[in-house]
Amino acid sequence: MSILTDPRFSGIKPFDKKLWLSSPTMHGDEQKWVDDAIQTNWVSTVGANINEVEKQIAEYVGVQYAVALSAGTAALHLATKLAGEKLYGQARPYEGTLAGRKVFCSDVTFDASINPVAYEDGEAVFIDTEYDTWNMCPKALEKAFEIYPEVKLIVVAHLYGTPGKMEEIKAIADRHEALIVEDAAESLGARYKLNGEWVETGSLGNYNCISFNGNKIVTGSAGGMFLTNSKEDADKVRKWSTQSREAAPWYQHEEVGYNYRMSNIVAGVVRGQIPHLDEHIAQKKAIYERYKKAFADLPVKMNPFDAEKSEPNYWLSCMIIDEDAMAPMVRGEQDFLYKSESGKSSPQEILDALAAFNAEGRPIWKPMHMQPIYRTHAFITAEGNGRGRSNAYIAGSGADVGADIFRRGLCLPSDNKMTVEQQETVIEIIRRCFL
Ligand SMILES: Cc1ncc(COP(=O)(O)O)c(C=O)c1O
Repeated sequence: MSILTDPRFSGIKPFDKKLWLSSPTMHGDEQKWVDDAIQTNWVSTVGANINEVEKQIAEYVGVQYAVALSAGTAALHLATKLAGEKLYGQARPYEGTLAGRKVFCSDVTFDASINPVAYEDGEAVFIDTEYDTWNMCPKALEKAFEIYPEVKLIVVAHLYGTPGKMEEIKAIADRHEALIVEDAAESLGARYKLNGEWVETGSLGNYNCISFNGNKIVTGSAGGMFLTNSKEDADKVRKWSTQSREAAPWYQHEEVGYNYRMSNIVAGVVRGQIPHLDEHIAQKKAIYERYKKAFADLPVKMNPFDAEKSEPNYWLSCMIIDEDAMAPMVRGEQDFLYKSESGKSSPQEILDALAAFNAEGRPIWKPMHMQPIYRTHAFITAEGNGRGRSNAYIAGSGADVGADIFRRGLCLPSDNKMTVEQQETVIEIIRRCFL
């Protein structure tokens, strides 16, 4: 039986136009600033749009310097490289700055957060997640320092726009004299109360990164930024991002270079978007709150946050199904199977139902320690080594929070152009999955 003929869903009509997880929302001024770049012939990686977006984002986030780059991934690469160089010195041209070094990394995140560790020849060690914010677990981080006291770098992301436990993480980093690369790609506009003072994500690490990818809270179609209070670091990243030219009349190079600078056309789109950042956050917050209210009597919870210490940007609304309401579901590497059961459901059943009605949901980002590429890398939980814990002789194995959230959770349609009526239909589809 197909989902559309399943009597549980009778009376619901598929959406005429696809409902997206999170798509770009243009307002008009984006076109004006792109046209301005073309009319003034600043169609390059220099120009007024770039200067302006660097100034505006630095002001918004509360940092002194912003360097506009071609992608959040480029920002993360140069941030990670800068941290490696600061810690271990300048690498030779054919070697990464983290060659032979371990780096503690968020586990439930998009792989762009942590791939730069590999670009720099380092070895990511994945730190398990906590249930309060779905971000890096400070207890697991502390354990990781017990096991690998030599580590000096932490890459931490704020998942789905919800700030992680940065006060604890920063205190642990300070105690172990470690540096932090902050991946705020998903959390631009989210705030965190650090030692009693509200600050923006993107200002919490030693090296900070944001993204303007098409699915983010504001977009340039692509693009990212490196954020810092250090002029020296900002200048270095700007130099590296423009092919590492030295001050000579000809092309002169003492360091490996990259073509990572933002284009003035892309910056025009970003410039048109920035005035709408707070409005997008308010729309996303309303979406989150409507889901939360509507699901109050279902055996599910929304993605959590610490209301006293953080204000998320609500980029993606997610839910997690209570363990006793999980219908059977198994996932292989690229496929899955599930069974419907009365009063229960599973992420893959809900995602299939949403897709059948032309709405886009998504599984929770699959934890990095479960990814085939990183399967040989260490994974540390609050209890210690998270690998090889099932025991053929002794019953019981420890918790793996990231795997659990991946198994029971999913991302819901969170597009800020979704109408209340459309969201009500999404909610109804999800409710019927539990019939
Ligand atoms: C957590 C996280 N880090 C990094 C990135 C990479 O940003 P970009 O796509 O701008 O390279 C993304 C998303 O794309 C992300 O979600």
